[in-house]
Amino acid sequence: MSVPAIEIESIQKRYGRFEALKELSLTVPAGSVFGLLGPNGAGKSTLVKSLLTIVRPTLCRGTLLGKKIGHRPTLAKVGYLPEHAKFPDYLTGRQIVSYSARMTKVVAKQATVKTEELLELVGMGHWADKRNGTYSKGMRQRVGLAQALVNDPEIVFLDEPTDGVDPEGRVEIRGIIEKMRDQGRTVFVNSHLLAEVEAVADEVAILAQGKIVERGRTADLVKSGSRFIVRALGPVPFELKAAFEREGAKVAGDRVECECEDAKGVQGIIDALRKAGVVVREVIETRTSLEEVFMRAIRQSKGGES
Ligand SMILES: Nc1ncnc2c1ncn2[C@@H]1O[C@H](COP(=O)(O)OP(=O)(O)O)[C@@H](O)[C@H]1O
Ligand SMILES: [Mg+2]
Repeated sequence: MSVPAIEIESIQKRYGRFEALKELSLTVPAGSVFGLLGPNGAGKSTLVKSLLTIVRPTLCRGTLLGKKIGHRPTLAKVGYLPEHAKFPDYLTGRQIVSYSARMTKVVAKQATVKTEELLELVGMGHWADKRNGTYSKGMRQRVGLAQALVNDPEIVFLDEPTDGVDPEGRVEIRGIIEKMRDQGRTVFVNSHLLAEVEAVADEVAILAQGKIVERGRTADLVKSGSRFIVRALGPVPFELKAAFEREGAKVAGDRVECECEDAKGVQGIIDALRKAGVVVREVIETRTSLEEVFMRAIRQSKGGES
């Protein structure tokens, strides 16, 4: 196993009396896209800013790229697109990226090459000489993404990269995130927009009120608790309905709906129906979306508190 990109043993952040991050731990594997999801105010930006020493955590133990969090030289290997990033309207895309590149320790000539390469990567080559003020939100964010890569970072933090971006722009940003991963970088994405993160993140953690309420590989989270719907030809007989409901299934008319690990779990329902002479018309598997996982996790965390 390679060293995780981030290994938080314990982090906590209070703003005055308010506890924005309750003691939590988190591991982010290297070379993957990691999504930190949660509603507004959950503490996502606070977590990222704490790792980058932009805010001072109340308590923080752990490593970033194998070095103690806060280790200055390591921060030079980090890229960052802050939430609501705003660059001056009068600068062109090229000027924004080139200025950021020259802020790093690379010599000017390399900064120029790097700028062109990054503008191409984010699909802004054509528009590079137009002013930022004329760009759409999606284009601004793409310039912001290029800006986050000028120091050739090992890990990139993107705080709500698609916030306020139209659907087409979001798809483009998702593509750029995938390219970053293909280049071997770890990408840490904060987002309250689930569908996009579901499409791009290898792993996610769900943060609610400063606590992690769910985490795992995206594929496993959306798989666990698959739902199956068995449809009969005609209504499900009353005795069977009662029996299925005792087992936790929902029955309405010709439909029996149950949550189970895999298709094996519904065979009992099919057998029972057939034994009672009922014709099974179809069996549908509906995958849980990350949105459902998210809503369930948030509900459970609220329930746990009351
Ligand atoms: N500088 C600050 N001072 C006081 N409270 C803050 C500060 N920054 C954030 N908070 C509070 O901390 C909580 C988490 O904020 P934030 O990390 O921005 O959440 P998210 O990024 O998930 O929307 C919110 O309730 C917010 O109001
Ligand atoms: Mg935020």
